[in-house]
Amino acid sequence: MDEDLSMEFQDVVRRRRMVRTFDPDRPLPDGALDRMLDNAVRAPSAGFSQGWAFLALEGRDETTRFWDATFPAIERSSFEWPGLFDVPTIVVPLSHKQAYLDRYAEPDKGVTDKRESFWPVPYWDIDTGFAAMLILLTAVDEGLGALFFGIFPERMAGFREAFGVPDEYTPIGAIALGYESPAGDRPSGSLKRGRRPASDVVHRGRWQGGSR
Ligand SMILES: Cc1cc2nc3c(=O)[nH]c(=O)nc-3n(C[C@H](O)[C@H](O)[C@H](O)COP(=O)(O)O)c2cc1C
Repeated sequence: MDEDLSMEFQDVVRRRRMVRTFDPDRPLPDGALDRMLDNAVRAPSAGFSQGWAFLALEGRDETTRFWDATFPAIERSSFEWPGLFDVPTIVVPLSHKQAYLDRYAEPDKGVTDKRESFWPVPYWDIDTGFAAMLILLTAVDEGLGALFFGIFPERMAGFREAFGVPDEYTPIGAIALGYESPAGDRPSGSLKRGRRPASDVVHRGRWQGGSR
């Protein structure tokens, strides 16, 4: 990069937090969405399967179609963070299990019966999650706010229908991307739980301490 405006990596990690109230008047800066998506596809993936896809929605028409499909107006009116619906951009990362089953049936892997029991955990969702994390971190690097949030199971069919998403692809959630409202955001009540320090969750050498 000629002019490197990027943040220090440690600052990016430490500043990352979910933002739920966006500035309705500020779209993403030029090229920011492409930079986030270009970083997303640098995520690692099992067998380099890259079984992911990203539905990028920009501007009112497209984001309104998303909210209408996933968050009915009646529920929106009582939602704790109404400023979420002002977000200018949404990226939906989708995982593609079949791409992994097919990739691992190739000669260098040899899982020819494509059995799901081969998989210790669903790497298609994990790898798509890695890609989503790169989007979240790149958003911080761009000075943007972001929220990763779930799409409720009962809204999945409506979401697919609204955007013509094939059945083989499963959204792992959605990412709202925009500038935080100048009026600020309200932190989630979940944060009262406090961050569990590494010393609580790391087991060195062997499992010891409590069962959690
Ligand atoms: C898989 C996943 C799903 C989440 N779903 C939601 C959601 O549906 N709504 C929401 O407001 N926040 C959601 N969050 C954000 C978490 O509440 C947030 O990450 C957590 O409270 C820690 O806060 P921080 O990310 O700002 O550090 C989700 C986060 C993850 C990783």
